[in-house]
Amino acid sequence: MSKLLYIQASPRIQRSHSIAVADAFVGEYQRAHPDDEIVALNLFDAPLPNFDGLAVQAKYTILHGQAHTQEEQQAWKNVERVIEQFTAADKYVFAVPMWNFGIPYRLKQYIDILVQPGYTFSYSEDKGYEGLVVGKPLLAVCARGGEYPVGGGAEAFDLQTKYIELIFGFMGFKDIRSVVVEPTLQGGPDVAKAKRQEALDRAKEIAANF
Ligand SMILES: Cc1cc2nc3c(=O)[nH]c(=O)nc-3n(C[C@H](O)[C@H](O)[C@H](O)COP(=O)(O)O)c2cc1C
Repeated sequence: MSKLLYIQASPRIQRSHSIAVADAFVGEYQRAHPDDEIVALNLFDAPLPNFDGLAVQAKYTILHGQAHTQEEQQAWKNVERVIEQFTAADKYVFAVPMWNFGIPYRLKQYIDILVQPGYTFSYSEDKGYEGLVVGKPLLAVCARGGEYPVGGGAEAFDLQTKYIELIFGFMGFKDIRSVVVEPTLQGGPDVAKAKRQEALDRAKEIAANF
């Protein structure tokens, strides 16, 4: 039995294109893998710890090989709890809106919590950086109001799919797939509807063999 972690990074729930497509993926996944556990988390509802001065200080205390103060220890426990929930999963699906050519701040906060040496990556003189979350597939459903086709003039503005691939690749993921829903705004509602249907079909196809 595998555990699928479903992370929603849009606060729009019912209106969200990325969540609609990721929901279709999860529905089909459930049909294909009826015994698997699915854990869903909306990052705008989940009580994520702030990655603030105290958490950063706790991180540097570890980096410098020192012992945490009581305060730092508590802050770091909250960070560890989020990492543990993440690494306990076997497979991942993310619903990600494009915000200002990148990702929403709550997903960035989640990533800042997850990316910790000794937990999700390691560094050594001889081997350099190595990701520690290995052998797990990840699907990112990326929605954006405009269009950013590969080879087109707007491609360089797409820091959404590129960042997802880079940061989860850094953590060790090699099997990163993506389904893009675009344009959800620029072409009007009919175009959005048609593009969303194409993405739904693609997501369901992926779910059967995920
Ligand atoms: C704060 C904010 C910033 C946005 N920035 C961009 C952007 O840079 N490029 C773009 O194409 N669309 C942008 N959009 C539009 C969203 O990408 C689009 O509505 C998408 O469908 C959102 O995903 P969702 O439907 O899953 O919430 C932005 C929307 C919001 C709310």
